[in-house]
Amino acid sequence: MSDVREQKPTAEEELLALRQLVQIQRELEEQINRVFAPEDEALHYALQASAEAGLPQINISPIEGKLLQFLALACRARAILEIGTLGGYSGLWLARALPPDGRLITLELNPRHADVARRVFEHAGVSDRVEIRLGRALELLPALVNEGAGPFDLIFIDADKAPYPRYLDWALQLSHPGSIIVADNCLRDGRFVREPVDDVTAGIFEYCRRITADPRLFSLALNIDSGYRDGFTVTLVREV
Ligand SMILES: C[S@@+](CC[C@H](N)C(=O)[O-])C[C@H]1O[C@@H](n2cnc3c(N)ncnc32)[C@H](O)[C@@H]1O
Repeated sequence: MSDVREQKPTAEEELLALRQLVQIQRELEEQINRVFAPEDEALHYALQASAEAGLPQINISPIEGKLLQFLALACRARAILEIGTLGGYSGLWLARALPPDGRLITLELNPRHADVARRVFEHAGVSDRVEIRLGRALELLPALVNEGAGPFDLIFIDADKAPYPRYLDWALQLSHPGSIIVADNCLRDGRFVREPVDDVTAGIFEYCRRITADPRLFSLALNIDSGYRDGFTVTLVREV
């Protein structure tokens, strides 16, 4: 019998292996974005205009934009609702999946963000199908219901995290069977399964609990962002 025992890696070796793993993940993410979700001039313009205006760089990633587009095309979306516009980066991916007579309504609290988004939609030639509504989402959503603006085929939730469960309530009121609801930042290093310690975690935790517990909904989570530590939940509304 050989006397070769498995040697435990040293702390230094473990650190090196970890660094290599992070590097591989980063490169893989970059390659996936480059090959499957290349950004054209208008998308670059969205990022550049946002940066120049000093907006926070908290837009979705290119592959997430492509996924939104994919879902919108797959469900033949004609009406899309977005909660959280920022500089219009995700809105542009979405608007481009619409037919010429389709519409995207996107809700934004901050007028500075909305101004950039307006320019971005104009620059990309999609402003004919995009409406930006300025205000608090929890005030704008009831107005959408009251005016009969729905149902929407696709709803993308990407604003402040604490009210995510309330956004879900409104999204369901604005859905039809077959609508798809996507929510960003639902995974956040596993916070969706931890006992909530703050409003943000509580919002994500409750949102994920409800989309997986409600028999009317069919949901999955995709860790496709931030080194695979964050990403989307995707929910199919089976019944309203
Ligand atoms: C993460 S960013 C949206 C990013 C955008 N979807 C993208 O990927 O390009 C969140 C946006 O939601 C807006 N926001 C935050 N709280 C809001 C609220 N209560 N109602 C409406 N918009 C809100 C913020 O001002 C910010 O522009």
